[in-house]
Amino acid sequence: RKGKTPEEVVKRYLQKVRNPPEEDCTICMEALAGPSGYKGPGVGGISRAESVGRLAQCGHQYHLQCLVAMYNNGNKDGSLQCPTCKTIYGVKTGNQPPGKMEYHVIPHSLPGHPDCKTIRIIYNIPPGIQGPEHPNPGKPFTARGFPRHCYLPDSEKGRKVLRLLLVAWDRRLIFSVGTSSTTGESDTVIWNEVHHKTEFGSNLTGHGYPDPGHLDNVLEELKAQGITEEEYKQN
Ligand code: APR
Ligand code: ZN
Repeated sequence: RKGKTPEEVVKRYLQKVRNPPEEDCTICMEALAGPSGYKGPGVGGISRAESVGRLAQCGHQYHLQCLVAMYNNGNKDGSLQCPTCKTIYGVKTGNQPPGKMEYHVIPHSLPGHPDCKTIRIIYNIPPGIQGPEHPNPGKPFTARGFPRHCYLPDSEKGRKVLRLLLVAWDRRLIFSVGTSSTTGESDTVIWNEVHHKTEFGSNLTGHGYPDPGHLDNVLEELKAQGITEEEYKQN
């Protein structure tokens, strides 16, 4: 498949900057008016006229070469995230390994949510071999504690969170492969940046109920991954 080059992807989100401001590029810490401090492999000749670009939505400016280098360091999914304000350009995806996400309603209430039933989500990911998008391609990864069970109140807001988690799952953003901060094990499946409640009736780990701020926190974390109800309705 012949995709766009990294430089073409990055340029899609940039506006031209004729006169770079007297500021440093916060990626390489060198002056925007001068050359990029990043001189890595795969960064070719970029003409003076387009050496600095402004991200179209948030307005932050960087050396084009620095943004291309940053893009090449990620999973190259056609999206770009502003390193200053985290605005996402395109659709952000992650490197969650293959697996299954299921859910159903159970007829019990969670602590702090006495007026509704409960949604149980079950994630199952088997161990496997790391792909090119993972830290150690070709090496096996382990998968501990699966199936992992998670709980949401079956309220209007809880169902909204569930809808957005389904989008996050499709975009491979719920789990990642890396080093577990709980066990220290490397090359294993770990939670990504969206918090889940894995305890139903107790709160021994801190990942249980009651937690009045939980649903709003998760909505914020999903937003940081580019997932909101507004965006979801368009698709
Ligand atoms: N339940 C829910 N979230 C957790 C848990 C847990 N028991 N433990 C850690 N987290 C959160 C952390 O707060 C952090 O934000 O997951 C994120 C990543 O932490 P890691 O320890 O690196 O993740 P991982 O190894 O996947 O999780 C550790 O969580 O669900 C359990 O069975 C799993 O025992 C394992 C534990
Ligand atoms: Zn920005």
